[in-house]
Formats: sequence, structure tokens, C-alpha cells
Amino acid sequence: MASKVWIQLLGVLFMVSATMGAAPRKPVNVQFGRNYVPTWAFDHIKYFNGGSEIQLHLDKYTGTGFQSKGSYLFGHFSMQIKLVPGDSAGTVTAFYLASQNAEHDEIDFEFLGNRTGQPYILQTNVFTGGKGDREHRIYLWFDPTKAYHSYSVLWNLYQIVGFHIDGCEASVEAKFCATQGKRWWDQKEFQDLDAYQYRRLKWVRQRWTIYNYCTDRSRYPTLPPECRRDRDV
Ligand SMILES: *[C@@H]1O[C@H](CO)[C@@H](O)[C@H](O)[C@H]1NC(C)=O
Repeated sequence: MASKVWIQLLGVLFMVSATMGAAPRKPVNVQFGRNYVPTWAFDHIKYFNGGSEIQLHLDKYTGTGFQSKGSYLFGHFSMQIKLVPGDSAGTVTAFYLASQNAEHDEIDFEFLGNRTGQPYILQTNVFTGGKGDREHRIYLWFDPTKAYHSYSVLWNLYQIVGFHIDGCEASVEAKFCATQGKRWWDQKEFQDLDAYQYRRLKWVRQRWTIYNYCTDRSRYPTLPPECRRDRDV
């Protein structure tokens, strides 16, 4: 039976926030309920530490999900996720940003479950103006059911810079982590990947990629415009 665990963050592209010019506050631990609301199967969310931590439960009847209360124009969106172990075939765990306007925009992380001992597949997709069909599918270089890993989207003034896995921990200068809280994602240096990140991307493309729509000439006889900046396709 197919079950779904959805983790959803909503973003509205043209939202103007009154606090945009203000200096961001230091990240602090807050109660889950202050920033998020459950979206379905409320009884499958378990709360810990006075509501500052939660677990999403998946059983044979249902999964569950939540979404942010606020909408965000840009940012670095990161989720620590540990996936369903064992027989997860037919399950899809998703962490995505979605617009609420008529022209649908979406940025997706989707984890496709598999039978016991078989690898999960991570699929990413990007929708703009209602059109998706921009899939990448990769195997992971670790077992995503064993420990929490951070999966992030960096989206700034210039572009969707990228999908990162354990980006903070892996970056040479740990600058993602070190500068947190300084509105760092809109700085010039985050217009593009750095040399180290390009090497890591190449490694993922060569060793772990199953499918990349940018290289699918039967589906896209001409290179989609957003693929042009990839140095290796
Ligand atoms: C499940 O694992 C097999 C190989 O071990 C792989 O071929 C298949 O694509 C996987 N399916 C999914 C949905 O991850």
C-alpha cells in the first residue's frame, strides 16, 4: 500500500514582509507549534521536550505531515530527516517548498522507498509557472535510515543555487553553518557554487546519478536553458 509522509514548507514568491530590512535574529529553539501546523493525520505526530521536537509516524494506515505557518521569499531551508527503515517500498517522504498562487512553483526533495536492503532513491524536481519535468534521481552515499542527515535548498535573489545534503558539515570552510543568522544566502558569494562544491557535484553526477533531465536528449532535444550553466553537461 502506498503511504506518504509529507513535510511541506510554503513559500510565496511575491510576498513582501515588513521585517525585510531588519537584522535577522539569532536562531533559537522554539516550540514546533509556533512555526508549523500539522496538515493531516494529526495523531501521527508525536511531541517531545515540551513540543520543541517532533516525530512523524508512518504505519500501515497513514503517514502525516506539516507545513510552515509563514511564507518566505528566499532563504536556506533545511530539514533533518531520518527515513523509514526496512521495507519502505511504496512510500514517498517529501520535503518541499510550494507557492500558493495560481502559477504553481515548487522545489522538491522526494525520497522513494524500497524493499528491505535495497537503496532509497532521492528525486529532486523544480516547478516554475506550473511546469515541472526537471527530475534528477540519485542514489545516496550513505544509508538514510540509519541517522539524521540535513537536506537543504538554498534559494536566493539570484537563483535556486542548489540542493545540498549535509551542506554545512561538508563545506570546506563550514561557511554555511558559521554564518547562519546573518542573512548570508543573499550575499554575492552564494550566487554560484564554489570550486569545492563543483567538485562534489561532479562526484555525485559521475558516481551516484541515475537520471538527470539535463542530459536526456530524447526528452529534451535542445538543452533546457537552466541547464546551460552546468559545466559538465
Ligand atoms: C530499489 O532497488 C533496486 C536495486 O537494488 C533499484 O533497481 C530500484 O530502482 C530501487 N527502486 C526504488 C524506487 O528506489
